[in-house]
Amino acid sequence: MACILVTGGAGFIGSHTTLALLESGHDVVVVDNFTNSNPEALQRVKRLAGRGFLHYQLDVRDHSALDAVFRQHNISAVIHFAALKAVGESVARPLEYYLNNLGALMVLLGVMGAHDCFRLVFSSSATVYRMAAESSFREDAPLEAVNPYGRTKIFAEKILCDLSASDANWKVIILRYFNPVGAHPSGMIGEAPQGTANNLFPIITQVAMGALPEVRVYGNDYPTHDGTGVRDYIHVCDLAQGHVAALSLIEQVNGAEAFNLGTGRGHSVLDVIRIFELTTGRRVPCRIVERRPGDVAISVANPAKAIERLGWKAGLDLTAMCRDGWRWQEQNPYGYALIESTI
Ligand code: UD1
Repeated sequence: MACILVTGGAGFIGSHTTLALLESGHDVVVVDNFTNSNPEALQRVKRLAGRGFLHYQLDVRDHSALDAVFRQHNISAVIHFAALKAVGESVARPLEYYLNNLGALMVLLGVMGAHDCFRLVFSSSATVYRMAAESSFREDAPLEAVNPYGRTKIFAEKILCDLSASDANWKVIILRYFNPVGAHPSGMIGEAPQGTANNLFPIITQVAMGALPEVRVYGNDYPTHDGTGVRDYIHVCDLAQGHVAALSLIEQVNGAEAFNLGTGRGHSVLDVIRIFELTTGRRVPCRIVERRPGDVAISVANPAKAIERLGWKAGLDLTAMCRDGWRWQEQNPYGYALIESTI
């Protein structure tokens, strides 16, 4: 029986996508090294889906271990999430990012090719777009990253374009995510950042829990409606459905094709805090501080291509993102760890 290999399937987007794949009738195999995720996420996906799947603890860079998975299973396509993703860490330890994110991709492509598996959905990011006055990005906008993490995504995209130009067997869909937030409505799977959270949404939920005193709002002098940064927040369940849609389209793409996964709507930092407070009834104290270096005023997707070609459109609004993200946080104050001392 043909199945889909999900690398990094225990991560935030990986776990929601694995569930969406199972629910849409795909058979799935997961590999994950659990460096920034927890196997408990996979147990919960199995419970939610009402059916099981195999998973292997391995690093995608381990050629022989990955090869063994391909020998064991009839893999028709791969969704590749496994990667490091912390921007600050990538600035401090760039080689680790290049070795992990690009090393893993190269090993994966080699093993796929050796097993005649030429269908890949690749996790990219809106961070690949050159930040400019223009703030709503189409897929053909110029690319330029401002940190090593973003560069690993640009280089990976280029590698995929070169490979598919060299060999017509390859069909690759590159998905550029905007700002994924929220959690599965069950509250059973969600985002479990290890160490200090850097992204806005997990910081808001931690402030609402009382684990942090306040949200530090990075600047209120941007050219936006209230001066704070505007982003295209997208519910992780919508994002997961985008991957199911990508698998349905993949036979029809030529070479490597990129798609934005975003809502097309922007919300400022203060909008998010206000809607979170309204939705959850919790207070989220905040304080305006200096701008964060590397931030831009506005980053919003133009999702027209995904709507037209993938037949996919984000359906969940910021209220749903806040409601579901908060439910996950309340039910799992320590993420997947069972007790505080284990985190
Ligand atoms: C960040 C990364 C991006 C990555 C994405 C993953 C940077 C510069 N960019 O995007 O490469 O792909 O996460 O989700 O790190 N904010 C605050 N206070 C906070 C945290 C954030 O005001 O404590 C503001 C930011 O200035 C920004 C917005 O909230 O306007 C969203 O920030 P964040 O969640 O970190 O996402 P991005 O910066 O868009």
